[in-house]
Amino acid sequence: MKEIEQNKKAWNLISEDHYHHFKKVLEEKSYELNPIILEELGNIKGKSLIHLQCNTGADTLSLAREGALVTGVDFVKGNVYYAKLLANDLGIPSASFIESDILTLSEIHHQTYDIVFTSEGVLGWIPDLDVWARTIRALLKDTGFFYINEIHPFYLIWDEEAFSNNEIKFKYPYFGRYKNIDTTIGGYAVPSKQTKAYDWMYSVSDVINALIKAGLQISYFHEFDTLCFDAGNMEQVGKIGYRHPQWKDKLPMQFSIKATVAR
Ligand SMILES: C[S@@+](CC[C@H](N)C(=O)[O-])C[C@H]1O[C@@H](n2cnc3c(N)ncnc32)[C@H](O)[C@@H]1O
Repeated sequence: MKEIEQNKKAWNLISEDHYHHFKKVLEEKSYELNPIILEELGNIKGKSLIHLQCNTGADTLSLAREGALVTGVDFVKGNVYYAKLLANDLGIPSASFIESDILTLSEIHHQTYDIVFTSEGVLGWIPDLDVWARTIRALLKDTGFFYINEIHPFYLIWDEEAFSNNEIKFKYPYFGRYKNIDTTIGGYAVPSKQTKAYDWMYSVSDVINALIKAGLQISYFHEFDTLCFDAGNMEQVGKIGYRHPQWKDKLPMQFSIKATVAR
């Protein structure tokens, strides 16, 4: 698919910058996983865990530090190269990384896991949530669970510039199924770069129904008023992320879902 190939090129532009950034913050221990994620995952010691869309492995390796036996997957060659380097730098040689598009992972990888994990900035890059969900089911042991903590699609409908100026202005249709064309990539951890990339809107029901259709059973759906990056004029809330003081308790910014294999 031409859009996926273009997205790979776009993400590859910031692989090296992400590696240097995350190596520094992980070594100085100023970066940690969102504590809500850690709490919701529970005890992962000794569990096999596959992390989808792992970028250069910062969160994958943080999960390894919590005791999980981790495998990261990303479709960018540079991300996988730097994730392996980062694992080596941090002394976590047991971590493994696979270069693959999530949508074709099932064709090349047949192992199953206790936990399938993905988080914070992933779904917008996936053009087909049904294939995504079937991939998750195929990766899960029958006793395992899937966990996602992601940007809430309700936040994604607002005009970004207005939002950063304390205004709420509608811009993107919640039910918009068409692809958006982006002119930059990144910007949440390292400066963004000019490029072309494609993303797709998702609704809450798209995500939940895709998981159910693939044979999963939802254990919970949680919503939060904090976001994993600063969208402008937001206040830092410890390691959880950022909250807009004006819309505290008013707008959903992030959500999480835990699901198990349906019996
Ligand atoms: C915002 S980053 C994910 C950040 C995430 N919180 C983490 O663990 O670092 C999105 C990632 O998705 C990857 N990606 C995008 N589309 C993909 C696809 N179809 N298959 C695999 N990886 C993909 C990108 O290369 C990028 O590393």
